[in-house]
Amino acid sequence: MSRAIYPGSFDPVTFGHLDIIERSSKMFDEVIIGVLCNSAKNSLFTVDERVDMIRKMTEHYDNVKVMSFEGLLIDFAKKVDATIIIRGLRAVTDFDYEIQIAQTNKVEYDKLETIFMATSLQYSYLSSTVVREFASYGGDISRFVPAEIVPMVEDKFKK
Ligand code: PNS
Repeated sequence: MSRAIYPGSFDPVTFGHLDIIERSSKMFDEVIIGVLCNSAKNSLFTVDERVDMIRKMTEHYDNVKVMSFEGLLIDFAKKVDATIIIRGLRAVTDFDYEIQIAQTNKVEYDKLETIFMATSLQYSYLSSTVVREFASYGGDISRFVPAEIVPMVEDKFKK
């Protein structure tokens, strides 16, 4: 059985992430969305909020689970018995960082394979950072995130 982890901050989850989830759910028996709980990083959403919103967006998949994790990704992979990591690549600018992380993880945990998926063309510009920045200036983010998530992001900037 193939069990893959799609890790990330998902702050917030975007159409780009959901596209990778959809495609990877067809490639692997089970996909675990690993939501990073990083206390050092100033997130817009708490880890529980991020887990809840991704659960709502992915409840129609039988083989997709959402979990939070703290610490190293390799430890989380060992804990859930997954040997595949999925990461989306938007452009060559993502590559340097991603290859470094993938190789570090591989050196530390030889069983772990990182699979890069090319982001679909229509989402190649999209990131959670862009969503937060746009929303912080009152911009319309409905092209970037699902309709249910739009007010959740907007509310964060009203406070
Ligand atoms: O959505 P992001 O912020 O680009 O996701 C980055 C993530 C969560 C995949 C990466 O930061 C991560 O795996 N963090 C956990 C700590 C870790 O294992 N780092 C890699 C070895 S240096």
